[in-house]
Amino acid sequence: MTFKLFIVLFMVTNAAAQWQCGGTTYTPGSVNFTTECMQTAQNCISQFAANISQEYCQDTTGNLYMQQIPSNGNNNDYTSAFQDILDFCLLDGSYTGTWATDDGQWFWMAAGSGCYSSNGTIPTNGPGFCVQDRTDTVINGCYPQPDPNSGALQVLKTGPTGNGFTGPARGWNSWGIQATPATTPSWQVFNQSNVIKQCSVLAQPEFKQMGYDLCSLDAGWSTNVVDEYGRIQYNSTLFDLGELGDYLHGIDLKMGVYIIPGVPCSAANRTIQGTDILIGDVLNGNNNGEDFCDWDFSKDGVQQWHDSLIELWGSWGVDMIKLDFITPGSPYNGANLVCNNSAAVEAYHNAIAQSGRQIRLDLSWKLCRNETYLPLWSKFGESMRTDQDIDNYGEDTFVAWQEVQRAIDNYRQYISLQKQRGVAITIYPDMDNLFVGNAANVTGVSDTQRITIMNHWLGAAANLVIGSDLTQLDALGIQLLTSSQSGAFANFSAQYPMQPRNPGSGNNLAQQLQAWIAGPSQETEAYVILANYGPDQGASGFDTSLAGVQAVTVSLNDLGISGQAWNFTDVWNGNSTVVTGSFTAYLNEYESQLLHLKS
Ligand SMILES: *[C@@H]1O[C@H](CO)[C@@H](O)[C@H](O)[C@H]1NC(C)=O
Ligand SMILES: *[C@@H]1O[C@H](CO)[C@@H](O)[C@H](O)[C@H]1NC(C)=O
Ligand SMILES: *[C@@H]1O[C@H](CO)[C@@H](O)[C@H](O)[C@H]1NC(C)=O
Ligand SMILES: *[C@@H]1O[C@H](CO)[C@@H](O)[C@H](O)[C@H]1NC(C)=O
Ligand SMILES: *[C@@H]1O[C@H](CO)[C@@H](O)[C@H](O)[C@H]1NC(C)=O
Ligand SMILES: *[C@@H]1O[C@H](CO)[C@@H](O)[C@H](O)[C@H]1NC(C)=O
Ligand SMILES: *[C@@H]1O[C@H](CO)[C@@H](O)[C@H](O)[C@H]1NC(C)=O
Ligand SMILES: *[C@@H]1O[C@H](CO)[C@@H](O)[C@H](O)[C@H]1NC(C)=O
Ligand SMILES: *[C@@H]1O[C@H](CO)[C@@H](O)[C@H](O)[C@H]1NC(C)=O
Ligand SMILES: *[C@@H]1O[C@H](CO)[C@@H](O)[C@H](O)[C@H]1NC(C)=O
Ligand SMILES: *[C@@H]1O[C@H](CO)[C@@H](O)[C@H](O)[C@H]1NC(C)=O
Ligand SMILES: *[C@@H]1O[C@H](CO)[C@@H](O)[C@H](O)[C@H]1NC(C)=O
Repeated sequence: MTFKLFIVLFMVTNAAAQWQCGGTTYTPGSVNFTTECMQTAQNCISQFAANISQEYCQDTTGNLYMQQIPSNGNNNDYTSAFQDILDFCLLDGSYTGTWATDDGQWFWMAAGSGCYSSNGTIPTNGPGFCVQDRTDTVINGCYPQPDPNSGALQVLKTGPTGNGFTGPARGWNSWGIQATPATTPSWQVFNQSNVIKQCSVLAQPEFKQMGYDLCSLDAGWSTNVVDEYGRIQYNSTLFDLGELGDYLHGIDLKMGVYIIPGVPCSAANRTIQGTDILIGDVLNGNNNGEDFCDWDFSKDGVQQWHDSLIELWGSWGVDMIKLDFITPGSPYNGANLVCNNSAAVEAYHNAIAQSGRQIRLDLSWKLCRNETYLPLWSKFGESMRTDQDIDNYGEDTFVAWQEVQRAIDNYRQYISLQKQRGVAITIYPDMDNLFVGNAANVTGVSDTQRITIMNHWLGAAANLVIGSDLTQLDALGIQLLTSSQSGAFANFSAQYPMQPRNPGSGNNLAQQLQAWIAGPSQETEAYVILANYGPDQGASGFDTSLAGVQAVTVSLNDLGISGQAWNFTDVWNGNSTVVTGSFTAYLNEYESQLLHLKS
């Protein structure tokens, strides 16, 4: 049910790509593309994959030509390249197209008129979806860089979210295990009993005390078989959500579900509950490629459908919805997403509000965070994903350090942009699942790195939605997740999220040696994190590779809190120092220090 695996494999290369259509043009829809040419395209792609030295490929009738020019023995972008040319040129009004990356790979396709005819089977028409390069993680204008100069400290403060929550979600979500199942031997199938096995751990007192009450099901719980009103159902082979909701509420937990915008296309002939409106009459014509059809949000009936859905899900006991594939944001992921489906966010928000239930809305993924959209998400959602998936796809561990560096840097950019808005923050960041619960060989990073992850997810006031296998937590995992130190910091940052203050300048740039401050609160309490993220692994935002132990020195002036003495207590070690000028931590690669400050 998800194409996330596909995405991540391609994003590793990260070269900026350009495609361009050329040749004479035709009117999309006036002709069809032939099966024979499509077959040639697939055969040629396989040949290029098998033989990187092969430059040309064409069919026997000479209708379709393809060329690749690999660079440095590298043609790893060929799949997205040819798919882009097909979708956005050959099936969309142009006979040719090229695609190139700035690392020198180059791809070309040309279709002769023999590829088009009235008896072809593949319709040509303009893409209903967003024409956005498939390898591009940078959507125009969506991720502006913050002004690096932070100036005097402006303490960040949160306010209640759109649906009235005052802190981020805490609990567990199934995607971590679904994405890397080899981490979790006891998990064979995403079904009710395996979910209960995980979530029942949250009912233990130490987890309950820390507020981990959410049991959240990711993609795969639902089916495209709809009810009489076109509403989304659970897959009854795997789940009974009414029963699961009762069970979870019975042990004082909450239930979360995952969904994407739109409606299963199979619902086209159903009538929206309480109306005489056919679903097929209020769609916009785009199938997003996941067998979901997009709504025309200007039409009567669309909000009523969302209302009826939340009524049904509410009757099962749904307390949280993760709404994925929201655009702008959600970089290309195998689905044919429209460029702007943000209206879905408002529709879900309104449906929740009118249901009267306390339901959290989590928006996903890597949402556009410019001045057009940050205010919109902030109005309607409880939390927003700030980055791509953090999962270590294809491996037998949950996470890799490169993704952690990337996640932390995305938070830095996000929070600095929030700060520039100069208003109370009414949405919490979702830095993706929290992977600190299991031993290093299962988590994928060292114990030192696990502590650094926890410090940052806490300070960011990020959702603390655990992705680890809860049935094999180790002692450090339990301590990080449930200790009173974590609880106190989480409570503090939920009101006063942390912001970067570069050692030596107080600015907010990405740096290998970094400092952050949360607060101070009026009660003259603050938290500081000092960190050495280790050498850049490609997406950290900095480009240094300082090896070994580093002195990380931060002055009260850098932090923006000079003018009085502060007692710095090392949260995990317990020792303290009174600081009037500056403080130095000696930090090895990946190490961070969490300091609790009192004046
Ligand atoms: C790969 O392609 C090159 C260039 O067309 C050709 O010379 C070579 O024989 C091909 N190798 C294989 C194994 O097909
Ligand atoms: C399909 O149409 C083309 C002309 O566009 C014609 O030459 C060809 O014979 C047709 N093929 C079939 C199977 O009808
Ligand atoms: C394209 O093919 C479909 C059937 O797959 C047919 O209904 C349609 O009329 C064709 N369109 C053109 C322009 O030939
Ligand atoms: C934000 O990004 C979107 C999507 O690219 C764009 O349409 C919009 O103009 C941008 N807004 C600003 C203020 O840059
Ligand atoms: C869930 O899958 C497990 C295998 O991991 C199986 O033993 C169990 O019966 C399944 N439970 C349900 C409710 O289908
Ligand atoms: C329910 O899940 C099972 C197991 O993954 C799958 O085979 C089946 O097709 C699904 N049913 C529906 C209606 O989606
Ligand atoms: C809707 O009904 C029409 C007419 O009965 C039928 O042709 C079409 O396949 C149906 N669509 C769906 C999605 O069931
Ligand atoms: C995106 O959709 C929203 C509706 O949610 C609308 O208000 C906004 O104007 C749209 N933005 C653009 C750039 O089309
Ligand atoms: C991980 O290491 C622990 C010891 O710390 C060991 O008991 C366990 O078997 C190892 N697990 C894997 C998957 O290697
Ligand atoms: C955090 O806040 C919650 C809710 O106010 C409270 O129950 C809990 O005791 C606090 N935790 C700590 C460690 O202060
Ligand atoms: C805690 O003790 C260590 C080791 O002596 C020292 O390096 C560090 O600065 C101390 N931290 C604080 C906050 O006093
Ligand atoms: C700092 O504060 C802690 C907790 O209030 C206290 O135990 C400790 O003695 C203080 N340290 C110093 C150096 O004053």
